[in-house]
Amino acid sequence: MARSSGNVHVLLAMLVPLCAATAWTAAAAAAGPLLPLPDLQTTTTTMNENDTTTGSLSADFHALSCPDLHGIVRSAVQDARRQDVQVTAGLLRIFFHDCFPQGCDASLLVDKTDPGSEQNVEPQNKGLNQRALQLIESIRDTVHKRCGERSVSCADILAVATSHAVNLAGGPFINMQLGHFDSVGPAQPWQVQTLPAPNADVTTLLNTFAANGKGFDNPIEVVALSGAHTVGKARCSSFSDRTIRPNPNDNFAKELAQFCGGDGNRQRNLDEITPDSFDNSYFLDLIRRKGVLTSDQVLANDGRTGWIVNVFANDQGNFFEKFAQAMEKMSRLTSPGGVKARRNCLKRDAGVNLQTTVAAAGSGDDEGLAASA
Ligand code: HEM
Repeated sequence: MARSSGNVHVLLAMLVPLCAATAWTAAAAAAGPLLPLPDLQTTTTTMNENDTTTGSLSADFHALSCPDLHGIVRSAVQDARRQDVQVTAGLLRIFFHDCFPQGCDASLLVDKTDPGSEQNVEPQNKGLNQRALQLIESIRDTVHKRCGERSVSCADILAVATSHAVNLAGGPFINMQLGHFDSVGPAQPWQVQTLPAPNADVTTLLNTFAANGKGFDNPIEVVALSGAHTVGKARCSSFSDRTIRPNPNDNFAKELAQFCGGDGNRQRNLDEITPDSFDNSYFLDLIRRKGVLTSDQVLANDGRTGWIVNVFANDQGNFFEKFAQAMEKMSRLTSPGGVKARRNCLKRDAGVNLQTTVAAAGSGDDEGLAASA
């Protein structure tokens, strides 16, 4: 195992409280700084305590009703990546922005023509990858033709597509938890506004991920999830806090300012080294002080998170394991009510209003109650 240059004592001081097993602690003390991080707890988290869908999720939810689901999705994502490799980053960001505000329910996919569309909430949802959004709807069409009308929700298709997209880009396979209902409409703007801001400091980031029932209360999870920025791009307006008056001591900020040249729409790769591959080079960027967003770079500069950045920069397998666990945990964020699957991922179902919800618990049906749209 490669070794980091990080401070062993700081690392151990922070690892010990996270570790329940005494034996593990002793082994950790003996092994040096680059230890396997403790496993993260994964439990189903509901975004609303009245939610009745808790506990009905599983990775093989559609194994009987749609056995080819993974095959259909993987080959569609593969085709889409051949045309535009950016679709992986697009799906990842869409998955995060769908699940974080009110649970994984495809509410984000309701398109901009809908007056309440989450896609119109800016700056959070500016610049979502349109090809990735269309891809989900196109996969839905194939899946519903092959496995039956409303057989698999748009939320589940997005989760499976994200997992394959990450894996096809070189990353781990994420065991997404399936069985989500689709929302009947978009989430509220205030919920979208709970997404983290790119100029956030570490305290704000850690609080944002832990707050409002999201449950990411371990800094390891926050650093691992931020590793999603190993793929994709950011518009200059997303890091203007660094470029408008660049800190004279920050050479990379000066380089970014020169690159943007005052054009907020110009796009910069989030990972300077391998922008299209899912790997751990984002963490090497941070160590070299070449993180593009403030919320990226601060992770390397703060004692609560810097040691985790060091571990991941030196041990890609460890990053992959923690990323996959944290993403699986994200896939457990459920939304209250909804319909079993929308007929079109990009639209509300006709005749179903925002208040209509369908409870799933105790239905005796292995996929919950069918929607009464
Ligand atoms: C830690 C807090 C986070 C902040 C502040 C943040 C913020 C941002 C911002 C501002 C952009 C650029 C948007 C643009 O300019 O068009 C971006 C892009 C992206 N984000 Fe995050 N993000 C965070 C966490 C995450 C997480 C947890 C994921 C996924 C698990 C994620 C996945 C992505 C991806 C893949 C892109 C590139 C999208 C593309 O190229 O289409 N981000 N993020």
